[in-house]
Amino acid sequence: MVFESKHPLVKHKLSLMRSVDTKPKKFRELIREVAMLLCYEATADLTTTEIAVETPMGTAVGQDLSEKIGLIPILRAGLGMVDGIWEMMPSAEVWHIGLYRDEETLQPVSYYNKLPTFPTVQVCLVLDPMLATGGSAIATIDNLQNCGAQRIKIVGLQAAPEGIAALQNAHPDVPIHIAQIDSHLNNIGFIVPGLGDAGDRQFGTG
Ligand code: PRP
Repeated sequence: MVFESKHPLVKHKLSLMRSVDTKPKKFRELIREVAMLLCYEATADLTTTEIAVETPMGTAVGQDLSEKIGLIPILRAGLGMVDGIWEMMPSAEVWHIGLYRDEETLQPVSYYNKLPTFPTVQVCLVLDPMLATGGSAIATIDNLQNCGAQRIKIVGLQAAPEGIAALQNAHPDVPIHIAQIDSHLNNIGFIVPGLGDAGDRQFGTG
């Protein structure tokens, strides 16, 4: 399942992120904000347990989130998506995974893995702004499943149709929440028209 956001705020902020005139400070603010909006959409099906809450006026029927969340940013570019979401869900666990794409083969190369050895959460949100070939997301899901993770969702800003297809082929049960699906991948594996390299644009490198 692919959920492309229709939210005007998401579209507006993503358009600002695309602009060549947007500097790293503004880019970091925007990625944080868009990540929060996408997370709001991606968590709409979390389950809650009914609880009684004492208010100053009586007893209300409330809801308590009954599922624990794991946030899995793919380094580097996924890091900018963590903080805003974490503020909304402070009890979430954050697990880091480091992957970079080999420039020749476009295959993901693993250089860091701080995933737990057994599942400690019920829902995993994989955070990465870019889904290009899909290789990094597929490798991350493979790793999470090896750790016993059951419910996994991908949350990203931009995707190429090629990456969506590869991810759906490899992991058809993993929902993809994305701000925008773009036109295509170019010959060096970048999303077109895209927004450039989300890691470089956040961290002021490149
Ligand atoms: C980018 C991006 C994704 C990956 C997407 O990371 O942030 O992780 O490429 O490409 P894929 O779908 O083809 O795997 P990059 O390798 O540039 O590393 P960085 O985040 O450290 O800049």
